Amino acid sequence: MGKRCIICVDDELLIVESLVRDLRKNIPDVEVYGLADGPQAIKKINDLEAQGQAVAVLITDERLPLMSGHSLLRHVYQTFPAIKGILVTAYADTTVLAESINQANLFRYIAKPWKSLDMILAVRRALDLYNNERELEAQREEIQRLNLAMIAILEDSGHRIEPDFRHAQRVGCYSALLAYCMGLDISFIRKMYLYAPLHDIGKSGIPHEILTKAAPLSPAEYSLVKTHVAIGVQLLKSIEVDPIARDLILYHHERWDGKGYLTEQAGERIPLSARIVALADSLDAMMSRRPYKETLSFETAAQEIRANAGIRFDPKIVDVFSQHQGEFEAISTSANPEKCIEKVFTTPPVPSEPLVPPILPLPPEL
Ligand SMILES: [Fe+2]
Ligand SMILES: [Fe+2]
Repeated sequence: MGKRCIICVDDELLIVESLVRDLRKNIPDVEVYGLADGPQAIKKINDLEAQGQAVAVLITDERLPLMSGHSLLRHVYQTFPAIKGILVTAYADTTVLAESINQANLFRYIAKPWKSLDMILAVRRALDLYNNERELEAQREEIQRLNLAMIAILEDSGHRIEPDFRHAQRVGCYSALLAYCMGLDISFIRKMYLYAPLHDIGKSGIPHEILTKAAPLSPAEYSLVKTHVAIGVQLLKSIEVDPIARDLILYHHERWDGKGYLTEQAGERIPLSARIVALADSLDAMMSRRPYKETLSFETAAQEIRANAGIRFDPKIVDVFSQHQGEFEAISTSANPEKCIEKVFTTPPVPSEPLVPPILPLPPEL
């Protein structure tokens, strides 16, 4: 873990210099920088983060030239929501405070003039919180990597059909990006990223010869392949599985026009998670090599997706895909698709209208 950085902003040179000195003396293993105004601070934060250094705390005076302290905090929060903001002011303006808390997730407000000990304690707490959150994030990523490895092993158990089987991983990335671009909330986006790779887990129950058959499937074989959605849910039955995971496994082959399987539900009756995975899965499948078909280029696959708006796919999701096509193409060609969707977890999505999830009863046999 590299050294954490602390940014102090005040246009009064003596104040910012003494604050920097005080923090350097009392908090070991951090880099402390003093800056005179908001634009300089934004540039410094961008530069440090671009170099891979982590800015943990931003301490700013409210009264600054060019932009106020709370505007600076709000601006930085848009790009780097993990940074802990501390606002310092001699004027207890409740509107400014409320705005900083609501729009920039303010960590602390400190009245001017402050006591050195109060400031040091506040910065230490902010650093602790920042470090704990980073650690949790790293653990979450580790779990995700293990999750993907496990899915690949399960799906693969004798069924390897591509030398580089990244289908599950890419479907997770496409699904998370779709949910993000739709403005859905961060917990739903995270769940899509975690669960979408599981969509075909039931294929581990389909005979190897059928999955790798280099010719069109017979009607009987196709019927057997269709059972992978129910097998997937059966596999997870012993654990209390999140309904979002269950829905996307069970219904990812439903179509918007009601001509898909398992239940032949149509439109918004199909759970949103499954509508998202349906598009993500098809996009990747069209570009993947399969024993029975050639691969399509991204452009041709994207055209196919657009042509199926309102037929196979939810037209609103197709719209979102079309508006952000370049980002999906970047995932499709990347050796590290997760890198392409970093913003999904670091920048808050633009919220959409509240969604009412459809309630679809489970088929009676499950
Ligand atoms: Fe599937
Ligand atoms: Fe799939």
